Formats: sequence, structure tokens, C-alpha cells
Amino acid sequence: MGEDIRFVLNGKRVEVTVNPLKSLLRVLREDLRRTDVKAGCEQGECGSCTVIVDGKTINSCLYPAGQADGKQVTTIAGLNDERETQLIQKAYIEEGAVQCGFCTPGLILVTRVLLDKNPSPGEAEIRVAISGNLCRCTGYKKIFNAVKRAAKYLGKGEKPLPRKTALRKIQ
Ligand code: FES
Ligand code: FES
Repeated sequence: MGEDIRFVLNGKRVEVTVNPLKSLLRVLREDLRRTDVKAGCEQGECGSCTVIVDGKTINSCLYPAGQADGKQVTTIAGLNDERETQLIQKAYIEEGAVQCGFCTPGLILVTRVLLDKNPSPGEAEIRVAISGNLCRCTGYKKIFNAVKRAAKYLGKGEKPLPRKTALRKIQ
């Protein structure tokens, strides 16, 4: 049986009539066409499906859509235009921490939430923050370094590398 579920998605009110036990991931992708949220394992293991609900990152594949009723849901597309997110993305590019990109939306979101809470996280905090997000391509050193670089850009106001320099570094 379908139920009406209303929430704010990337700053806009949305309403869907779905089985409240359907995963938020499936509702976002299938009913609301938000394909920037990636479907990976759908078993709570990989973090590809990460979204932010009321300020906390969650695995949307394990989150019943009914629980999102009345909440604020943010996907990577909802943060793309913000300077902080763009600097995090730039840091990932500069460190070569993006290859296939499948894990990247989730990693950018956990990085953003981490740095919003603590602009200068310690190494252990960074490791914990990214521990729920699997990447099969880059190796975690590059991702770890990308988070540290992003923390510098956001926390200390350091200037990011010009785009050409960043791209040369990856090659
Ligand atoms: S798709 Fe949700 S954790 Fe893998
Ligand atoms: S860049 Fe491919 S899984 Fe992370």
C-alpha cells in the first residue's frame, strides 16, 4: 500500500506516494529521478548511496522512505553549487582521488559533513569518517589526502591549485 511521504529534497518540497518501507535510495532514484545518488551493494556495506538526512549522513539503501517524512534530505546535487563542496571536489581531483567516480558522491558528502562539524579533523577522525565508504579504484591514501587537502582549503583559507596544475598532478 502506498502512503504519501513529504520531505524537503535539496531545498524543495517533494511528495511521493510509495510503500513507506521502500528504501529511500529507490525512491530517490526511481520515483524522484535523483540518479546522482548511486546504488551499489544495497546492503549497507559500500556507502555509494550516502545522502544527508537532517544533517547526518545515512546509507539510503537501508533507510525506509517513510522515515524521511518531514525531514531534510540532501544529495550531492543539492550541495554542488556551494563553495565548500566545490573546494572539496577540487581537493579530490588534485589528489587523484577520483577514478570511476561511483563512490565519489558519497565520499564528498561524508567529507562535507565531517568538515562542517570539524574544520581541522585529526587523522583518526578522517579515517572514521570515510570508513563506511568503499572505493575499489583509488586506494584510500589518495582519498585520505583529499580530505586533508579539503580541510586546509576550508579551514585555513588556503588557495586551491589552479585547475591546470591540478590536472597535471593527476597525469
Ligand atoms: S548501496 Fe547503500 S551501502 Fe551500498
Ligand atoms: S573511484 Fe571508483 S569506486 Fe571509488
